[in-house]
Amino acid sequence: MGRLDNKVAVVTGGAKGLGQAIAELFAKEGAIVIAADMGELTYQANNVFGYHLNVTDVAGVQTFFDEIVKKFGKIDILVNNAGITRDAMTRKMTDDQWNQVIDVNLKGVFNMTRLIGPLMESNGYGSIINISSVVGVFGNIGQANYAATKAGVIGLTMTWAKEFARKGANVRVNAIAPGYIMTDILKTVPQDLLDGFAKMTMLGRLGQPEEIATSALFLASTESSYITGQTLNVNGGMRL
Ligand SMILES: NC(=O)c1ccc[n+]([C@@H]2O[C@H](COP(=O)([O-])OP(=O)(O)OC[C@H]3O[C@@H](n4cnc5c(N)ncnc54)[C@H](O)[C@@H]3O)[C@@H](O)[C@H]2O)c1
Repeated sequence: MGRLDNKVAVVTGGAKGLGQAIAELFAKEGAIVIAADMGELTYQANNVFGYHLNVTDVAGVQTFFDEIVKKFGKIDILVNNAGITRDAMTRKMTDDQWNQVIDVNLKGVFNMTRLIGPLMESNGYGSIINISSVVGVFGNIGQANYAATKAGVIGLTMTWAKEFARKGANVRVNAIAPGYIMTDILKTVPQDLLDGFAKMTMLGRLGQPEEIATSALFLASTESSYITGQTLNVNGGMRL
């Protein structure tokens, strides 16, 4: 018996990094997982199916939604995980840097959830998990665009927790705010900064993708059946 038996899960940005760890763990726990990503899947796992999707493409998201619902009949779990960084100090940040990050990290989350949330509401069941960041909770130098989106995702989480449960549906919406986790997104961050971030945690180290996946599994499963509208900080006890 898996904790997600008979569940259909969509994980955006599921081709690698945190999305991969989440997709693999959900599938291991019995879910059928659709890893929706702009890139190709970088791994193979039973019951994880890649789908080429850009979450900023409104028409593409609609087609994805129609196809998945036709094929599987429902979506029980949505993990809004796709995200990018385009870092610069505010005085140097270009319109492109600002717009790209808002488009993927905030509008992309909205594009997915405005279709899948109401489906869950009418099915009477669902769990939505939005991947925020420690940067959305505390802010960070050089990441005004990213911080705005990750704080925005926390606002969306609380709003959707209210909206989709309004008619008595068992739809829960929570966020995870990871600290610094070893994935490609940190490739551009200099090692001395990463060492500094590790020192800012109570545990004295950066996180591993699997440590976010286990939190996502908890929020996706009925083990968290009375938790909604919350942000789970998974950051080794970090203060920025
Ligand atoms: N790694 C960290 O330290 C960390 C910390 C806090 C929050 N996060 C968040 O976790 C999420 C996953 O990050 P990661 O570290 O795994 O990054 P990653 O760069 O390893 O993976 C991100 C994935 O998202 C996909 N993606 C990007 N834009 C997309 C789009 N428009 N449509 C569909 N897919 C798209 C990429 O192709 C990639 O597969 C992001 O939202 C990130 O902001 C990461």
